[in-house]
Amino acid sequence: MGDTFLTLRAIHMTCAGLSILGFIVRWIWMLTNSRLLNARMTKIVPHIVDTLLLLSAIALVTIIGFGANAAWLSAKIVGLIVYIVLGTFALKRGRTKGARAVCGVLAIVVFAFIASVARTHDPAGFLHAMHAAP
Ligand code: HEM
Repeated sequence: MGDTFLTLRAIHMTCAGLSILGFIVRWIWMLTNSRLLNARMTKIVPHIVDTLLLLSAIALVTIIGFGANAAWLSAKIVGLIVYIVLGTFALKRGRTKGARAVCGVLAIVVFAFIASVARTHDPAGFLHAMHAAP
């Protein structure tokens, strides 16, 4: 594995960690009615982290090639879209606190799924164990 690949992957994994951490912090601030949720930094930093996460993802894909990895990469992209939609419902669009709480838990589970797909290069990620042969 080349140095560039390893560096980009380290950036990618760091941003993934910061993304879920930032999400959980904002989700807790929303549930506890914290004023910090509306702070300038709270609105700007997640966009920077998520942009870097995506740019590093695109750079990694150009190195390893999409074709040979289409199955698990597609699972990550679908997972990412579901994570983003659940995230917006958890932070803003959910109509009740209960709905936002549930969407937040689901977003965290989907995030863990994306990370498990990345590690295993298996489009089923951690779901694989559920349909694996005995
Ligand atoms: C929330 C979104 C994402 C998370 C949590 C995430 C997480 C990760 C993690 C943990 C790794 C390291 C896996 C390992 O080698 O152990 C990784 C690698 C990688 N990710 Fe992501 N990722 C996300 C989004 C994406 C997207 C959207 C793409 C592009 C479609 C992408 C493409 C890649 C590639 C190409 C690698 C390198 C895989 C390898 O080591 O061979 N990631 N990702």
